[in-house]
Amino acid sequence: MGFSCVFVLVISCLMVVVGSSNNFYSDFDLTWGDHRAKIFNGGHLLSLSLDKVSGSGFQSKKEYLFGRIDMQLKLVAGNSAGTVTAYYLSSQGASHDEIDFEFLGNLSGDPYILHTNVFTQGKGNREQQFYLWFDPTKNFHTYSIIWKPQHIIFLVDKIPIRVFKNAESIGVPFPKKQPMRIYSSLWNADDWATRGGLVKTDWTKAPFTAYYRNFNAMPCTSCWPKYKSLSLQTNNKDELDANSRRRLRWVQKYFMIYNYCTDLKRFPQGIPSECRQRSRF
Ligand SMILES: *[C@@H]1O[C@H](CO)[C@@H](O)[C@H](O)[C@H]1NC(C)=O
Repeated sequence: MGFSCVFVLVISCLMVVVGSSNNFYSDFDLTWGDHRAKIFNGGHLLSLSLDKVSGSGFQSKKEYLFGRIDMQLKLVAGNSAGTVTAYYLSSQGASHDEIDFEFLGNLSGDPYILHTNVFTQGKGNREQQFYLWFDPTKNFHTYSIIWKPQHIIFLVDKIPIRVFKNAESIGVPFPKKQPMRIYSSLWNADDWATRGGLVKTDWTKAPFTAYYRNFNAMPCTSCWPKYKSLSLQTNNKDELDANSRRRLRWVQKYFMIYNYCTDLKRFPQGIPSECRQRSRF
């Protein structure tokens, strides 16, 4: 389902559902890497690959301002050390906003790292990293971003893993005005990605390939509808319900491996203000 935005009274956005068939041909452009980026199965499957010469990437034709964006990914299997699959929303320019998922590959059998970040007005440094509770290379899994004026929620298979709340009231900029496109790319980052750059890409295993399917973007009036039965819905204060909060805490307790909010060495002057805010979640 596609939608487009019409600005009303500067910041509010009316999303008009225009209806489409979630086809990669109609929703995305292959932007680099020549034949390494491919759409097939009648537009229902997309793949990116990386070899010694180049990686590849795609971007959405449309821009989005708020909404829920779902995509299923199946990551590079086997020895994916040194590779990075980035999947993110971004606006353009020096003071751009960005909402990132990045998947850092690993040796066969060793865990991927899911790296997340939020940029507001050109400034990031808000990394949180996670291990996953499944092997992301065996099957497709759904990675979602819910972007509302009140918060950004990252979800994996409908489980919230990270919430970035609007903290404008204490002076932290929040992405609210710049529409974003969806981007993805697969590239070589063996100078830092796996164990901090210690493990290099094994080019004898190239090409490395990641797959995408079931893209869905919807306005946030229907952000949670499918999950009512799992009680994964927001209440009228826009909070996660008890079950979602429990799942979020579970992920953060057992799978989070880095949180900028607790990295005191990195912020000797004090942790960023949004981290000091008491969480409602
Ligand atoms: C790769 O595996 C090692 C060993 O289990 C682990 O320390 C590391 O966090 C994993 N992920 C990456 C991207 O380095």
